[in-house]
Amino acid sequence: MSMTAAPAPPISAAGLAKSPPIDLPMRHFVSAAVAFWIFAAALAGGTGRFFGFDFQAKWVLGLVHIMTLGWITMTMFGAIIQLSAVLWETPVAWPGAVRGAWWAFTLGLIGFVAELWSGGSRYWIPAALLFGAVVVYLACFVRTMAAAPRLDWTARHLAVSVSCLAAVVTLGFLMAWDRDRGVLFRDTTGALIAHVHLALVGWVTLTVVGVSYRLVSMFALSHIESKTPGRLALALACAGLGGLALDGLFFGRRLMPLWAGLLAGAYLSYAWQMRAIFSARHRRIDPALAYTLLALVGGALWTVLGVLLACGMLPEESHVFAAYIYACLIGWATPFILGQIHKIVPFLVWLHIFGRRPWSAEKPPPKMTDLASERLAWAEFFAVAPAVLLGVAGFLAESRLVLEAGSLFLLAGATLYVSNTAFTLSFLVREGGWTGTSSRS
Ligand code: HEM
Repeated sequence: MSMTAAPAPPISAAGLAKSPPIDLPMRHFVSAAVAFWIFAAALAGGTGRFFGFDFQAKWVLGLVHIMTLGWITMTMFGAIIQLSAVLWETPVAWPGAVRGAWWAFTLGLIGFVAELWSGGSRYWIPAALLFGAVVVYLACFVRTMAAAPRLDWTARHLAVSVSCLAAVVTLGFLMAWDRDRGVLFRDTTGALIAHVHLALVGWVTLTVVGVSYRLVSMFALSHIESKTPGRLALALACAGLGGLALDGLFFGRRLMPLWAGLLAGAYLSYAWQMRAIFSARHRRIDPALAYTLLALVGGALWTVLGVLLACGMLPEESHVFAAYIYACLIGWATPFILGQIHKIVPFLVWLHIFGRRPWSAEKPPPKMTDLASERLAWAEFFAVAPAVLLGVAGFLAESRLVLEAGSLFLLAGATLYVSNTAFTLSFLVREGGWTGTSSRS
């Protein structure tokens, strides 16, 4: 019986040694998957609350934050915690504080949504807990990046995106406090526009963009020399976002078409960079790459809606805003996240259980791809893709029927995603590996 080392994982030995304990990223991915499913189920059960006289602002606000904080931000936190070891060979700082922040964030979000959905007005109290949790996360990330020997291109995007997150939660907390008082913000719509764009462009999009350059190149086996379009995209995005947020907060929203034009230019430059990455790939299109392509389509849809709104070519009505936010959250951020997580979670579980375990030629460990079902991932993809188009169309046309169809597709996609993630995690449970420090120890 020959004893030999496991195949080399796609991470350097130094990075491997600095990976966090598995519970740290995984608790974020698991709670995020639960939030995604709750969002999809609540949307499917409550489409009527978006339109006409039925419109329930607090219910929509709660639902939006299950998606943005529970699903998107939670997944991004988990990914940054894991990626710090891979990208910068630096362990995440203060893991105990991260665990505490995860609890505070989860409880703060539950309290925030519960207060909104029960019609309460003191939702600024759980919002303060959320704010505190994010401050701890940000402190850990800044400390981690400060300790890294060398920061790469992705880190430069993350430095901007976490700064935007600091502004988003500060503004969010102040808006929650001020909603029934009306003393802080004279132009509440301008403040909302600043909060939404610092969140969706500054935090979500810049994180997605920065991470996509590294992860998509890695998963597609693609090497590119020129980063010029990407650099241009970052510069245009910072200019457009900075102008839009300041104009919204302090100057009466006078130059919205200009900021929208700069942001659209940023998106085109990013798409150009991604085209180069896809053209140089050496891998077939698998579900992860298909999701990335879907995200690029959703991002284009979001950009077009933004430009039309800023130029006054679409009416400033709640159903159009809903289409715009839906295109970003479900069309752009969600497919991108789903694609990357389909690679990251099986990889982490495989590494944790089999990474350093000696194995025999007669009884080799399973392949990384055996830890998730590709057929399930394709089924999920074909449920999420129509959900993007039907959701945007349903909101734009104010058609409850079309929105309902889109939300049912989304619920099917979320259910398949949760099942596939549970299947991968079942390997951890079977091997008793959830709480152990991993096969590395
Ligand atoms: C501590 C964290 C946060 C708090 C307390 C908070 C609070 C709020 C409040 C009070 C509003 C409504 C403002 C108004 O209508 O006047 C709002 C809207 C919104 N927020 Fe946040 N927010 C937080 C984080 C985030 C994050 C991280 C994102 C995105 C990643 C986000 C995305 C949005 C969106 C899209 C809206 C518009 C929703 C709608 O019009 O119904 N928020 N937020």
